[in-house]
Amino acid sequence: MPSPTTRMIAEKTGTIGWMIFNNPDRLNAVSLDMWQAVPKIIADFEADPEIKTIVLTGAGGKAFVAGADISQFEAQRGDPASVVTYEDATTLAFETIARAERPTIAMIDGYCIGGGLGIALSCDLRFASEGSTFGIPAAKLGLAYAASGTRRLVDVVGPAFAKEIFFTARRFTHDEALAMGLINRVFARDALKAETLSLCETIADNAPLTVMTAKKIIDETLKAPENFDAAFCDQLIERCFHSEDYAEGRTAFMEKRKAMFKGK
Ligand code: COA
Repeated sequence: MPSPTTRMIAEKTGTIGWMIFNNPDRLNAVSLDMWQAVPKIIADFEADPEIKTIVLTGAGGKAFVAGADISQFEAQRGDPASVVTYEDATTLAFETIARAERPTIAMIDGYCIGGGLGIALSCDLRFASEGSTFGIPAAKLGLAYAASGTRRLVDVVGPAFAKEIFFTARRFTHDEALAMGLINRVFARDALKAETLSLCETIADNAPLTVMTAKKIIDETLKAPENFDAAFCDQLIERCFHSEDYAEGRTAFMEKRKAMFKGK
């Protein structure tokens, strides 16, 4: 599928769908057309059975994403009606990433700020290079974050660090981000891509139904207790135990060979 805008690149290599924020002159700041392209690109990856993981990253070597494009705020986020339209587009982008069935990985090399951090937090995993910096400067701009995005931050780092990130609006180093659990791993810049590819390969070799079930159940546990859908979780678990892949996993173990999973 051709990307709906040149400022987003959608590529498939092997089992990986790459979604690349491509606005390097503005450190990949996300313009409205880019927010609107995100759900379409994710939907295309999700519809492709060859794609096992989705990697989100930024072009240009300086930034993952330095937030929403502030230069558009006056025209596109300046009055109550346009704020609603803009928020709908960003919320849909975040939600579509968060709800993807495939595991999603943010590969962060450089600035990961504001909405950029929101995008990274919508992913399942965050791999970053040394020297990457993280922050939410909302309190320097006077804007507010949607409750859903704030919740994702709290789910990842807990309320105390979430408050520190919002209250100070400062930038945090990769060491600080790692200590908070904001990112999963840190690598030297020249190792980041190879490590990300290795992660994707590991996931792609594993049983897709087990990976998907774990993702959905973990996300289900983050919901309020009254919204937790135990029956849905049970269905997913049952599907794994009745799958061809479970039989293949057992047989491969006994035959001391690598399992060849089909996702069914
Ligand atoms: N929106 C629009 N343009 C942005 C941007 C954003 N979020 N972030 C960076 N840019 C632009 C800068 O205006 C600059 O453009 P110019 O060359 O035409 O002046 C270019 O990207 C490079 O940024 P610059 O500030 O020169 O780089 P830096 O390395 O000195 O600083 C940041 C990097 C990320 C600290 C700084 O750009 C910044 O604070 N950006 C805003 C981040 C932000 O508040 N995001 C939240 C939005 S909700």
